[in-house]
Amino acid sequence: MQKNKVFIGFICLTMFLSFSACSKSSESEGNAEKPSQSTSQQTMSENNLTDASQAEEKTSSESASASSGSTEQTTSGSRVLVVYFSRTGEQYNVGVIDKGNTAIVAEMIAEKTGADLFEVLPQDDYYPYTYDELTDVAKQEQNDNARPAYKGEVPDLSQYDTVFLGAPVWWGDWPMIMYTFFETNADALKGKALFPFSTHEGSGLSGFDKKLSDALPDSTVGKGLAIKGEKAQNDPDNAREDVNEWLSDLGY
Ligand SMILES: Cc1cc2nc3c(=O)[nH]c(=O)nc-3n(C[C@H](O)[C@H](O)[C@H](O)COP(=O)(O)O)c2cc1C
Repeated sequence: MQKNKVFIGFICLTMFLSFSACSKSSESEGNAEKPSQSTSQQTMSENNLTDASQAEEKTSSESASASSGSTEQTTSGSRVLVVYFSRTGEQYNVGVIDKGNTAIVAEMIAEKTGADLFEVLPQDDYYPYTYDELTDVAKQEQNDNARPAYKGEVPDLSQYDTVFLGAPVWWGDWPMIMYTFFETNADALKGKALFPFSTHEGSGLSGFDKKLSDALPDSTVGKGLAIKGEKAQNDPDNAREDVNEWLSDLGY
């Protein structure tokens, strides 16, 4: 109960702080509620690199099919990569989920753009399965300005001109593991067009764009997208409309 109050408190705070950022995103309203279910086994893919055709197999949506990102060019003629972090198990406002909210959005982007997908997976998956415990661990990481290690080999970034980077908002910020990714790959991301996206339960984009730009000053950060996690999870057709509208604005 106390944690709920604390959480509602930081949602309000982060919504206030990120007001200007939220106004740039395509969708950011709504208040979070307590998750309705408890512990579940996390599911994680063995290999964190997939292409759009594999993503399509994994998603249950009815969207038009996408071509494999490994060889295809995008409509803008550039090669595209989607990098994302996402969790399963007990999640805010949606109960227990076996595909993360951000993963759903990442796959929609990949389908539409023909991108490759790279999932940022923790090297040591110490993240708890229950929502309340996860918030404690995430807060501790943030307080420590931690750089949790991720596993797997990042694809050769020189192949890509455009990189979409997405994550859930955690305590008003990118999860710290994404900063590990940014900093580890800063040189390889120089000069590239980066587009941030978040899923959230009230904080919108939460300044993901500015924070990304600060972390990677030699890259170009474009317009971001914020989608409520509950919408991505429970109303994917509408979420896809938001994704496609944003991508259309970006020229896809
Ligand atoms: C540790 C933690 C912190 C969170 N902090 C926020 C927050 O500050 N603002 C917000 O709107 N939502 C917050 N949420 C909700 C998530 O951003 C939201 O549920 C997201 O869609 C989860 O995405 P995922 O399933 O891809 O992990 C938080 C969730 C967790 C687990």
